[in-house]
Amino acid sequence: MEFSTISEYQSKINRIIITADEIKQKIAEAGKFIDNIYDGKPIVLVSILKGSFIFLADLARAVSVPCEIDFMEAKSYYESTESSGEVRITKELKRDISGCHVIMVEDIIDTGRTLSHVLKLLKEKNPLSLHVITLLDKPERRVVPLTTDFSLFTIPDLFVIGYGLDYGEYYRNLPYIAEFSEKA
Ligand code: IMP
Ligand code: MG
Repeated sequence: MEFSTISEYQSKINRIIITADEIKQKIAEAGKFIDNIYDGKPIVLVSILKGSFIFLADLARAVSVPCEIDFMEAKSYYESTESSGEVRITKELKRDISGCHVIMVEDIIDTGRTLSHVLKLLKEKNPLSLHVITLLDKPERRVVPLTTDFSLFTIPDLFVIGYGLDYGEYYRNLPYIAEFSEKA
């Protein structure tokens, strides 16, 4: 993606839908939720690169139970802002998670295809437990049925950017979540 001017780049940030403060507050709640479930037992936070990296970094600092962190990378193929349905794992976990309490940390659940594919793979590794926490959920868009244990924000069918989420690899560093504008 190329921008000829900074104002072109900025013009695609349509409006803020979730502020940095709102995110911070919800993450504190999510951290308490995790602490309550595991009650001092060690956990492994697994996140899918790259979209979840900022959420994971903040969430990890909101939990008090002993926690390890590991990453995988999955590519869901997109035509513009629409998922094509194909999911490919491009980086595997380093940690052997068999016998571990695992939490899958997701940025956004849209059609549900990426997560359902990844969850199937994780279950085959025999974790002791497997929970799902997602920053954003777009339930209207679901194609594959999926439930989460904790969803921080439910949003309508919009393409969003910021706080880890990208459009064409840009905008991940915005401290808030905004609606992306496709108009030129
Ligand atoms: P799903 O497989 O359709 O559920 O899509 C999951 C992945 O698509 C997410 O992990 C994101 O990388 C990407 N995605 C879905 N919706 C959005 C969005 O609104 N903004 C940015 N990325 C998105
Ligand atoms: Mg993405």
